[in-house]
Amino acid sequence: MIVSPSLLACDFGRLDQEVEMVNASSASWLHIDVMDGVFVPNISMGFPVISAVQAKASKPLDVHLMIVNPQNYISRCRDCGAAIVNVHQEACVHLDRTVQQIKDMGMKPAVTLNPATPVEMLRDIAPELYMVLLMSVNPGFGGQKFIENTIGKIGRLRRLLDETGSKALIEIDGGVNLATGRRLAEAGATALVAGSYIFKADDPLAAIDSLSAL
Ligand code: DX5
Ligand code: ZN
Repeated sequence: MIVSPSLLACDFGRLDQEVEMVNASSASWLHIDVMDGVFVPNISMGFPVISAVQAKASKPLDVHLMIVNPQNYISRCRDCGAAIVNVHQEACVHLDRTVQQIKDMGMKPAVTLNPATPVEMLRDIAPELYMVLLMSVNPGFGGQKFIENTIGKIGRLRRLLDETGSKALIEIDGGVNLATGRRLAEAGATALVAGSYIFKADDPLAAIDSLSAL
């Protein structure tokens, strides 16, 4: 399983050590949550922090933009060294253009869906995508309860990807722990984001290993 630890749950006073922990772990990527207080009711980190993290990180950055007008910030993501850029379908009026923009700038395009957005919204763009990120909580905060509908939604997304010939990975974000992670893996998830389960654990490296092994 691809694991993408969400830095949102880390101790920001020990940012260096937290990034080094992820470097030394079995995680594949490092997940960065950008919030603007408009698209979601919270504000997190911005580009100077992402650049500082990138300078220390040995894993590719999986950047999750929870912002309005994400198309205005794609070049900033590239300048910060992002490998994957996740934009919300709900935030993009011209999603095809934004996806092409991400590709043209040499990054991997991913589209994120809120819990209430049906997978059908992606039918026409699916073949262009590196990944689809399904939110299993309403975005904006770490430590929320997993929304059960996600399990069935993975099956619906899998069918849509097969029908459209898309090779997109399926990543899940929100309320992921070993118990929900097992069920998500069985349902067909190929990548898991986890914040609290990893960074609030007594042994974060072991928590990452437990998800990687799924
Ligand atoms: C929530 C963020 C998540 C968050 C997940 O809006 O997109 O990446 O950090 O946190 P946990 O794993 O604690 O639910
Ligand atoms: Zn996220």
